[in-house]
Amino acid sequence: MSRRTKHCLGAGVCLLAAGGWALAQGATPPSPPPADMQAAAGGKIFGKWCGDCHSTPGGSGSQALQRKYRGDIPDILEQRTDLNPDYVRHVVRHGVSFMPSFRKTEISDADLSLVATYLAPSPGRADRVTKRP
Ligand code: HEC
Repeated sequence: MSRRTKHCLGAGVCLLAAGGWALAQGATPPSPPPADMQAAAGGKIFGKWCGDCHSTPGGSGSQALQRKYRGDIPDILEQRTDLNPDYVRHVVRHGVSFMPSFRKTEISDADLSLVATYLAPSPGRADRVTKRP
């Protein structure tokens, strides 16, 4: 949103004028596709709650997964292509080994869905089960 439009909205006047102006300029910004917005939101939540352990090779989650899979699959969760959203939800709610569980007051169901979608974005992946060694 341009400064000019914001100013107009903030003042609570000239909504129509702003709309007319945007149309005249052909400047109505295209809204980003919902999938992108979901991924961005999921990434943000992941960074807040999970990134410390899972986004770097040195994170405790990455190290544990490195030991578990011995390099067969990436130890950084964001690079995995085999994560099933239901599995991600289960792990986050119940914890696994020394990964803590997270309550709904910490990560809401809606936020958890965004994280699960972020880690397992394509519908084609949903029916795959995490590979077991
Ligand atoms: C305190 C560090 C820590 C945090 C924070 C953490 N995890 Fe983990 N996570 C781990 C560890 C350690 C493991 C490996 C457990 C094991 O040995 O199986 C793990 C495993 C997992 C697995 C299982 C992967 C597999 O192949 O079985 C998933 C999925 C996962 N974490 C998702 C998340 C998500 C999503 C978040 C954020 C909501 C998160 N984790 C936050 C430490 C953490």
